[in-house]
Amino acid sequence: MQVIATIAELRTRLVDVNAIAFVPTMGNLHEGHLNLMRTAREHGSCVVTSIFVNPLQFGPSEDFDKYPRTLESDCAKLQGLADVVFVPSINEMYPVQQTVFIEPPPIANELCGASRPGHFRGMATVVLKLLNIVQPQVALFGKKDYQQLHIIRSMVAQLNLPTRIVGGETVRAVDGLALSSRNQYLSVPERGEAIFLYQTLQGMRRALLQGERDIERLQQQAVEALSARGWAVDYVAVRNRSDLQAASPVQGGLVPRELVVLAAARLGNTRLLDNIEVSLVD
Ligand code: PAF
Repeated sequence: MQVIATIAELRTRLVDVNAIAFVPTMGNLHEGHLNLMRTAREHGSCVVTSIFVNPLQFGPSEDFDKYPRTLESDCAKLQGLADVVFVPSINEMYPVQQTVFIEPPPIANELCGASRPGHFRGMATVVLKLLNIVQPQVALFGKKDYQQLHIIRSMVAQLNLPTRIVGGETVRAVDGLALSSRNQYLSVPERGEAIFLYQTLQGMRRALLQGERDIERLQQQAVEALSARGWAVDYVAVRNRSDLQAASPVQGGLVPRELVVLAAARLGNTRLLDNIEVSLVD
């Protein structure tokens, strides 16, 4: 495994490789990332990952400064899983002030975008830069960041990028909490409570499968249940999987079949994110 910090060196290393599978990350790797690396191996002869905490996607009052940077232990975890680890400095990625940005689709202003203005613009911009730098045949992103994956898929399709995007399933702790680099901010009591987010989504999924079609009521009940336990809820939303638009009843009282229930809520200072897919059968 090679650790490479410059674009020039990376290009030289990859010049003759024609099946690159790429996993962009911000480091502080957990089993969710490692699982993506294993899937990447099925898609390419050379697995490249990047570790770069992208300042462009953090708001001024967000956790850019305290975001965990754990390069040494990340590299140890990547042994045997990745062939190349790209670890650019901020200066390598942004040698001049970035004045050209990706304008993400309008959905980027909803859900997580509503409380994180500019986040998806910064994310999409760095992902496009990374795809241009690495030029992979396949790039993999976790489904835990469902809206991020949707926006990346839209960008790649609408800008005709020659990279196939693959989504990786969310990896969970034994109690069901979705693995996230931010989980380590949780205190012990918060870590115990954190599982309630996924349980809430599971409850909504059950209700939908049992025929509940009043989506407004379902969302409202979930917000109330979380708030009553001390969560500050950003959103709980039932959306269409294909376009992330609101899954409201359409003609004939039908709700689209392929749904996803998404939520983001804060426990103390930690913002947790989760989602669950639901396929309606009626
Ligand atoms: O999901 C992440 O870790 C980041 O948003 C990504 C895709 C690496 C871009 O910085």
